[in-house]
Amino acid sequence: MRNSVFNMNVFKERRELLKQKMKPQTGLIVAAHPEYVRNNDVEHAYRPDSNMVYLCGFEEPESVFLFRPGHDQETILFVREKDPFRETWDGFRYGVDGAKEEFKVDATYSIEDFHRVCPGLLSDLEGVYINLFSNHWFDSIFEQVYMAVDGLRGRTNKGKLEIKDSRTIIGEMRLFKSQEEISWMRHACEISSEAHIELMKACKPGMNERSLHGLFLYQIMARGSAREGYGSIVAGGDGATTLHYVFNDQPLKEGEMVLIDAGAEYRYMSSDITRTFPVSGKFSEAQKRVYQAVLDLQKELIEMVAPGMDRSKLQNRCVEGLVDIMIAEKLLKGSASEIIESRSYAQFYPHGVGHWLGMDVHDAGAIEVNGEPRPFEPGIILTIEPGLYVSRKSEGVPEELKGLGIRIEDNILVTSTGHENMTVVAPKEVEELENLVGVNYKD
Ligand code: GLY
Ligand code: MN
Ligand code: MN
Repeated sequence: MRNSVFNMNVFKERRELLKQKMKPQTGLIVAAHPEYVRNNDVEHAYRPDSNMVYLCGFEEPESVFLFRPGHDQETILFVREKDPFRETWDGFRYGVDGAKEEFKVDATYSIEDFHRVCPGLLSDLEGVYINLFSNHWFDSIFEQVYMAVDGLRGRTNKGKLEIKDSRTIIGEMRLFKSQEEISWMRHACEISSEAHIELMKACKPGMNERSLHGLFLYQIMARGSAREGYGSIVAGGDGATTLHYVFNDQPLKEGEMVLIDAGAEYRYMSSDITRTFPVSGKFSEAQKRVYQAVLDLQKELIEMVAPGMDRSKLQNRCVEGLVDIMIAEKLLKGSASEIIESRSYAQFYPHGVGHWLGMDVHDAGAIEVNGEPRPFEPGIILTIEPGLYVSRKSEGVPEELKGLGIRIEDNILVTSTGHENMTVVAPKEVEELENLVGVNYKD
């Protein structure tokens, strides 16, 4: 037997809120994805679907949660059956009875019966909120259900079951973090920041990027994290100019910078921190100049975060600030307004100023409301992450800047009076970095 780490009242409260957002006579389905083969008989490490965990806490693959407000059986889980043989190999499964008891739902069924049982549970509804086309396994079993619902309704005067997008209403809820979620995120941010410090201390020329990645995993897991929130990026030198560099397999070189974008997941809340520092612990003049300029801009952007601010204004200021740096550093010629108009800055800054952060690193929730940028409100968490990237292949740029990739990323909670930087513990000042990097090797 395994016990969920969650208090089931959390899900009950979330579902009560969800109820208020659903149209009358509708249901909502979320599905976990199956396990995916990595090679031969080895599967990728399983990370449950965020919406599934958000609404009922169930963490096993091949499961479906159905929510039908106003019905006797309001909460229903379809789960894998117990299987002593598979459990000998892969470990515990709740099974139909265990899931009902532990997750406090009204009914549970075997997932094998989904296509037989689910049509009857949907047939009297006007519509169902669902997320299609992101989970092939679920799409194929739902297709059968949808056709069977049609068959059942054919004998009545009901039209087709309306399919509605579940991501919109769940996203609207997930965007606003509860006090408990904020406390989990704060923990994710703290342990990630501490891990970044350990990586700074352990970094030295000649070390492979992979060693720092491994050390990050060790540092967060030793502090209670289940896993990294996304594939960590450990990119030395020119590798840092690839935004989501995945290889993490090169030796770190004296004279170059290393960019580490890595965050721990804790209770399904993911932090997302980037720090960039010199491999040897000493900035060159050019590195220091550009780094300090990006850092000053990042701090200015963080200061702007408050209720009423929006992502679009931050993005505009971020572009303006980075374009000024590009002009000062002779990366681009011409006036700031021409560069912004033509978007020629995008060759050195091709991404956004930040994104919502939560259970998914690029978290749920609309960035626009009624066609307008969404004003920030307390309880929203976002990243602020300006960056400047000069690939080795860039032409017509100062030689000293080639192969320089800098991103500085913090996780910011919007509060009623302004904001809280949840990753403030991770050092980013030039002097702090110079004092910390490689300290494990100093007497
Ligand atoms: N770690 C991915 C990002 O910063 O968006
Ligand atoms: Mn990010
Ligand atoms: Mn990141």
